[in-house]
Amino acid sequence: MFHFFKKHSQPLFEGLCDFHNHLLPGIDDGSKELAMSLKMLEAYQKLGFSSVIPTPHVYQELYPNTPETIQTAFEVLKTATLPANSPSIPSFAAEYMVDETFIKNLENGMPSLLLGKKYLLLEIHFFGGTQLLEQAGFKLCQKGITPILAHPERYQGIQTLAQFKTIKQKGFYLQLNALSLLGHYGPEVQQKAQLLLKAGLYDFVATDAHHLRHLEQLSSLRLSKKQGLQWEAIRDFQLDWFNGL
Ligand SMILES: [Fe+2]
Repeated sequence: MFHFFKKHSQPLFEGLCDFHNHLLPGIDDGSKELAMSLKMLEAYQKLGFSSVIPTPHVYQELYPNTPETIQTAFEVLKTATLPANSPSIPSFAAEYMVDETFIKNLENGMPSLLLGKKYLLLEIHFFGGTQLLEQAGFKLCQKGITPILAHPERYQGIQTLAQFKTIKQKGFYLQLNALSLLGHYGPEVQQKAQLLLKAGLYDFVATDAHHLRHLEQLSSLRLSKKQGLQWEAIRDFQLDWFNGL
């Protein structure tokens, strides 16, 4: 395997914003407490990230967060003494579960926890189909919002490149979970991530870090030469995108 670090002499995540993670303490299945969040920020700094936008779950059945609960947790972190050279935490958003509640709420208005002014991070059930996702995408695009599908490689209901291409044609961006490439979610997910990377279908990369170990694991991520080229294309796109947020 080619060692991407050696050739390019910079970490894979250098200068990036991680805009999918569960850094905020105590409001979902991510960081349990402020001390853990601060350790995670140290790990982010070691990986080379320049900023982090926390995205707690908004999932009615399990984590019924609201803008208020997330704002409160955000303030806890923002007012703490951050580690030296910590990445900045410019704002917060959310990772919305696309379920019946989400669709119903969408009919009555807009989700308020956007990335910038017009991007929304979405997930679906890992074992479900894509019908609700397609409904959500249609409604969001009508409203001028661009949906970003988190960790597309992890869904059982989306398997073929043709399916992924269809989702992109419907207006979605696709966000790689970097842990998938490490095999963290098993060989099938890893192979799917490799396939999507090779096909150039990813637009963004994020950690989906729920705890410190997730970030520590990412320091061992290595890419082949070809994967490194695809990764660079994603990084360049993501840096431009973030600067325009
Ligand atoms: Fe997540």
